[in-house]
Amino acid sequence: MRIKLVAGNWKMNGTLASSRALLEAVVPALAPLKRANFAVCSPFPHLGLVQQALRGSNVALGAQDVCQHDNGAYTGGVSAAMLADLGCRYVIVGHSERRAVFGDSDELVALKYAAAVRHRLTPILCVGETLAERESGVTEKVVARQLDAVIGHCGAAALERGVVAYEPVWAIGTGRNATPEQAQAVHEYVRGRLAAAGRRMADAACILYGGSVKAANAAQLFAMPDVDGGLIGGASLVAGEFVAICRAAQSSKETVKS
Ligand code: PGA
Repeated sequence: MRIKLVAGNWKMNGTLASSRALLEAVVPALAPLKRANFAVCSPFPHLGLVQQALRGSNVALGAQDVCQHDNGAYTGGVSAAMLADLGCRYVIVGHSERRAVFGDSDELVALKYAAAVRHRLTPILCVGETLAERESGVTEKVVARQLDAVIGHCGAAALERGVVAYEPVWAIGTGRNATPEQAQAVHEYVRGRLAAAGRRMADAACILYGGSVKAANAAQLFAMPDVDGGLIGGASLVAGEFVAICRAAQSSKETVKS
């Protein structure tokens, strides 16, 4: 049985005051929801405040990136050890914005994934194709390449410790979400790839969908058999939207392994 996970990705938004206000609205509303898991991935400078606001709640703390190194002369870096020390449970690695804007390569993403696992964080590994790649029919090839970089470097055992988020680049922040069927097709492919790579319990793997998830489309996406929840960008900054998406995860049926 897979429990749904909804993780907010606040990206580089907000102030201390707005983050506090957002959590004051979200945390009590999520408290009664016991049948799904929740997290928020905040910007680094807000992690301390968010950690305090989430203390004792059913919402886990996450970060949006991590340095591949554990400590030392890496000015500006934030290590997995530091994130773990702050109480983070999750960290996003390989988000398409990191890949496109900051040049994170498949190899660097694999190193970041490994650093997260070394410090017992759960990496949320983002994969996904651009519009041009989808239109030229290479979606699976791209997703396989991104997964294989991590599998090759970290091995199947490390794979059991993470979450995969399928985020088609053309759906991120565009208002144009993948249809439930498009998401399902890639999620099924990802699960098969994890099984082929030697992940013993690919059936138990948590595979999130991200890209313009909102209250209005969450239930249909989460109803797909291989969609185990969502990584939510823009809508996670609006308390009512995020709470409604979390409620949709809570009410959607748990997937029972066949
Ligand atoms: P979006 O972003 O929900 O705003 O499309 C998702 C993400 O980038 O994780």
